[in-house]
Amino acid sequence: MTTALITGATRGLGRETARRLAALGWTVWLGARDPEAGDTVAIELTHAYPAADLRVVPLDVTDDTSVTAAVRTVAEADTGLDALINNAGIGGRPVPPRECTPADFIAVYGVNVLGPVRVTSAFLPLLDRSAAPRLVMVSSGVGSLTHANDAAHVYYALDGLAYPSSKTALNMITTQYAKALPHIRVCAVDPGWTATDFTDHRGTQTVQQGTDAIVQAVTADSIPGMFFGRDGNVPW
Ligand SMILES: NC(=O)c1ccc[n+]([C@@H]2O[C@H](COP(=O)([O-])OP(=O)(O)OC[C@H]3O[C@@H](n4cnc5c(N)ncnc54)[C@H](OP(=O)(O)O)[C@@H]3O)[C@@H](O)[C@H]2O)c1
Repeated sequence: MTTALITGATRGLGRETARRLAALGWTVWLGARDPEAGDTVAIELTHAYPAADLRVVPLDVTDDTSVTAAVRTVAEADTGLDALINNAGIGGRPVPPRECTPADFIAVYGVNVLGPVRVTSAFLPLLDRSAAPRLVMVSSGVGSLTHANDAAHVYYALDGLAYPSSKTALNMITTQYAKALPHIRVCAVDPGWTATDFTDHRGTQTVQQGTDAIVQAVTADSIPGMFFGRDGNVPW
């Protein structure tokens, strides 16, 4: 049996990743900062996949106490942990650079940058015990410096400071984890523009399409590179 933990599994891409891994017969820990919302998802997915092993763990990625308790819960359940999917993320206030203040960065970096570091470092001892450990950072193509500097690319027009740079930072963090943890398959994935609450459901992809790279990152024998989307590698 293979076991995954997904942060932010109550909605959007996290929930769909949980659904797809449950359908594959994995044991899935639904990380939920609102455990009632997590329970609702677990019940819905268990109805759809009666054989699935879905478990809820309260987990707020910004809170040391919550993350420490989550590690204890998973360790005591003895499910092991093969794949950690750092999916939880927020967009923050969409303001142009002239109006952006340091305060705009605090919440966004707290969830999108410090969150994956807090969760990863806390769960590493469990991942270390897996025969085939995987660490996945749900990043974004808007964090690509190459796209942001390419006048021909659609992301050139995006002018946010906090959110795009949080994903650029996450990409570097991914790179450094990959070098430091050669026994773990580490990657960052770009879901692509997907219809979730995050995009006010304006994204053109379905959640199934948006989770293709995440699912590939944890299930495939090999992956295209260290930063990729459903269509292949994404430039850093
Ligand atoms: N949708 C897209 O087009 C797109 C594109 C590129 C990258 N991404 C990335 O994909 C990831 C998921 O996005 P999404 O579209 O699925 O977003 P979403 O529908 O807004 O869901 C975000 C999830 O993150 C959780 N979350 C937020 N803050 C948290 C915290 N402090 N601790 C734990 N969980 C927290 C939310 O939990 P609550 O329900 O409790 O709020 C929710 O489950 C994000 O990292 C995002 O940056 C999305």
